[in-house]
Amino acid sequence: MDLRDVTLPKKFRSVELQGIASRCGRAGPTVHFAAVENDFEVAFVALDFFPPPQHLFLYWLYVCVDYRGQGIGSRVLQVIEDLARQQNYSVIYLRPHPLDQLWSKELLVEWYRKRGYECVGKDCDGMEKRLVGGRTPIAGI
Ligand SMILES: CC(C)(COP(=O)(O)OP(=O)(O)OC[C@H]1O[C@@H](n2cnc3c(N)ncnc32)[C@H](O)[C@@H]1OP(=O)(O)O)[C@@H](O)C(=O)NCCC(=O)NCCS
Repeated sequence: MDLRDVTLPKKFRSVELQGIASRCGRAGPTVHFAAVENDFEVAFVALDFFPPPQHLFLYWLYVCVDYRGQGIGSRVLQVIEDLARQQNYSVIYLRPHPLDQLWSKELLVEWYRKRGYECVGKDCDGMEKRLVGGRTPIAGI
């Protein structure tokens, strides 16, 4: 699994990911990525690289519908966490808001919780994971 920097939506090969990327806003520190596995674009990732010691903001994570439920989202999250460690971030922050109708906020909160993220703020509006050195093992991945 690799993250490929995609600075313009037209650089996606996947029409689905191109559509998602075009909906995703971009501020100064935002970088858009295609997650590529076995030469297939399987997910879209938008990260806000606030300078450390601030957090890395996982702004959007979207796995193509046909590829869901196969561990891809989990693997992309691990790659993001590895990237964060390489760039000396100690915290990843995100807002668990569903990007389509197949997921609810509650399901997303559970999905991220299982992967080591904790709620912060009122009504779990945000979630964060404190990073320590080395990869976080997830059984079976
Ligand atoms: C949320 C998302 C990133 C997860 O990626 P994924 O590749 O589908 O997930 P994985 O295969 O790694 O994880 C599988 C787990 O998710 C669960 N899952 C998969 N689809 C689900 C669904 N529609 N509803 C609830 N749980 C679901 C599986 O039961 C499995 O649970 P387990 O870990 O207890 O076994 C992806 O489905 C997605 O892009 N969703 C829509 C976009 C979105 O709303 N993104 C959130 C931005 S914060």
